[in-house]
Amino acid sequence: MAYAAGVDVGSTQTKAVIIDEDRNVISRALIDTGANVVAAAENAFRQCLREKDINPEEVEYVVGTGYGRYRVTFGNTQVTEISCHGRGASHIFPNTRTVVDMGGQDTKAIRVNSTGEIEDFCMNDKCAAGTGRFLGAAAVALDIPLGELGTVALKSDKPTRISTTCTVFAESEVLSWLGKGKKIEDILWGVHKSIASRSVSLLRRVGIEEEITFTGGVSRNVGMVESLEQAIGAKLNVSDDCHYCGALGAALFAMDNILASRAPHDTKEVTA
Ligand SMILES: Nc1ncnc2c1ncn2[C@@H]1O[C@H](COP(=O)(O)OP(=O)(O)OP(=O)(O)O)[C@@H](O)[C@H]1O
Ligand SMILES: [Mg+2]
Repeated sequence: MAYAAGVDVGSTQTKAVIIDEDRNVISRALIDTGANVVAAAENAFRQCLREKDINPEEVEYVVGTGYGRYRVTFGNTQVTEISCHGRGASHIFPNTRTVVDMGGQDTKAIRVNSTGEIEDFCMNDKCAAGTGRFLGAAAVALDIPLGELGTVALKSDKPTRISTTCTVFAESEVLSWLGKGKKIEDILWGVHKSIASRSVSLLRRVGIEEEITFTGGVSRNVGMVESLEQAIGAKLNVSDDCHYCGALGAALFAMDNILASRAPHDTKEVTA
């Protein structure tokens, strides 16, 4: 039994996934990328191997993806994160036609066909205003752990209107609303709604077609799921695997390669 791996070195977090020949996920790992991108890729991969006691030699092919994909020094090849998120999302939710990937630094809107191939995509410009980083800045300003942002925001019944479109100014706007006596949950719900509305504009540019799958680390935020669903007016597919979607897509491309390299050999054996 051969294994394939995908390593998604994101700007914020590095994800690794190992799959078997039946394309089942055997192991996965998630670590902060930090300053040493090469080490992040190695550490996530090693953690993935350790988790299920897999020998590195058993992993026949490794695909790197994400902004640091060229720093996956042990990788056999690289595939863009757009293709990997499209492939991964279609694997988890086969009826996916639109993917929204919200990571630390980028938000991407991707439209895929019935086989998970990319038809169109669009991403935010250099600015991180509609992404995890914007939420992170709000979390710091309000002193709330990242994992609790969504649940706190969902307590709001009167969102504060957030006007800044800049992550750098998000913290000062949040603090100024706090100073004016606004409730934490209202400010936070306002932050979520502002990101959701920016993401919907991005999604409209590629065309929103159901089913819509939400990937990337921000898909773990229940408040972001709810605010996006309200802004789009449709339900989103989301699961525990969605943060690993890029790495899963990369692993699926890696497995394609392993199986394709065997095909001529198998044919020869059959005809011999
Ligand atoms: N448990 C969690 N709850 C809420 N948000 C989370 C959680 N874990 C991660 N996040 C959010 O996900 C973001 C990281 O997501 P992801 O790993 O998809 O980013 P990335 O791939 O490194 O970035 P990019 O794709 O932009 O280069 C963090 O910035 C954080 O906002
Ligand atoms: Mg990413």
